[in-house]
Amino acid sequence: MKSEKQVLFNPRFGLKPDLFIGRTAIIDRILDAQDSTNSPYRTTFVTGIRGSGKTSLLSDIAIEFEQRGELVVSVSETDDMLAAIIDQLLLKSRSSARKISGISASALGFSFGVTLSENAQTHSFRGALGKILSALKKHKTSPVILIDEASGETAALREFASTYQLLAREGLDMLVVAAGLPKSVSKVLTERALTFLQRAGRIKLDPLPMDEIVDSYLKVFSQKDPAVPYDLVKSLSAQTFGFPYLYQLIGYYVTELSDARIDHTVAANAVSRARELFFENVLAMLLRDTTEKERDFLFAMLEDAQDSAFGDIANRMGVSKGYAVKYRQRLLDAMLVESAGYGKLRFSPPMFAEFLAQERPNY
Ligand SMILES: Nc1ncnc2c1ncn2[C@@H]1O[C@H](COP(=O)(O)OP(=O)(O)OP(=O)(O)O)[C@@H](O)[C@H]1O
Ligand SMILES: [Mg+2]
Repeated sequence: MKSEKQVLFNPRFGLKPDLFIGRTAIIDRILDAQDSTNSPYRTTFVTGIRGSGKTSLLSDIAIEFEQRGELVVSVSETDDMLAAIIDQLLLKSRSSARKISGISASALGFSFGVTLSENAQTHSFRGALGKILSALKKHKTSPVILIDEASGETAALREFASTYQLLAREGLDMLVVAAGLPKSVSKVLTERALTFLQRAGRIKLDPLPMDEIVDSYLKVFSQKDPAVPYDLVKSLSAQTFGFPYLYQLIGYYVTELSDARIDHTVAANAVSRARELFFENVLAMLLRDTTEKERDFLFAMLEDAQDSAFGDIANRMGVSKGYAVKYRQRLLDAMLVESAGYGKLRFSPPMFAEFLAQERPNY
């Protein structure tokens, strides 16, 4: 019998889950930046590998700002993102639930009910955004612009960046949070047109804090089985490695596979199903995104039981250290490996070594 509202795990991408944990410090830093014009987080660049929770974080930031009555625009980096930004700004500034009122498309000289794409003949992005920001400034507010899937690949992002810089010089401000895969950072850093993102506050999505995982598992699992052993909860938590997607997957299968009891059999089955999906939907995609030489590097590392010495890796690849250094850097940038000190490296994503071992026969 379901008396209480059930909290559900949701191992799907691109949706903020019901059980969203461990990001309070990051969110506060960004929320605070709205009131402090000098905060380095007025522009923020969030990075993390697939499944580390970028989209969920942006959704939560959107919700938090919306609840404060702020004007929030959410887009992905696509060719038509500029039109989407203007459309959303016009649409949302009409809503009465906001701090601001009286900003109407027609008052700003836009034809009513007509999208920017159609208005584009008369308004450049810069002109349109400038008008909206000026109107908002009169109400002592500025919008929040969230850009997911930032890759630095589109002309639209470059135009957004140059417009941002020009308008900022005129004293027209906005808060921007972009999120992208680690490799987009290196792309953005080499693009001269994207300096505003190069100076952005950088946030890397670290693993979720283990104590919050234990607390939330204990709470949800004991609703189902009040006698669930604490040690089992701790062991299940440890097997998420703090990785958001694994946290949802393991939680989901534990609740799906158990009737009234959550015991070791349920736990073992849940972890094994979760691993399968994690391998398929995260680790396989990470490997697919690498080049042949990068894969040579990764499989050369696999020969060590623990950390690998850089010199050994180059030897196994049959190349000089000077040559291998390039691939080390790329893999560090992609957050696939990390430094283990003193010229040593280790794999960064959870269970990556096990996954590579399983893939070795196909390599
Ligand atoms: N803070 C969090 N607490 C709990 N679960 C989370 C959290 N952040 C993300 N998740 C879960 O992790 C999974 C991946 O999240 P999300 O789609 O946000 O990742 P992403 O970094 O945007 O991935 P991609 O790079 O593929 O777009 C989802 O199942 C989501 O529910
Ligand atoms: Mg995403």
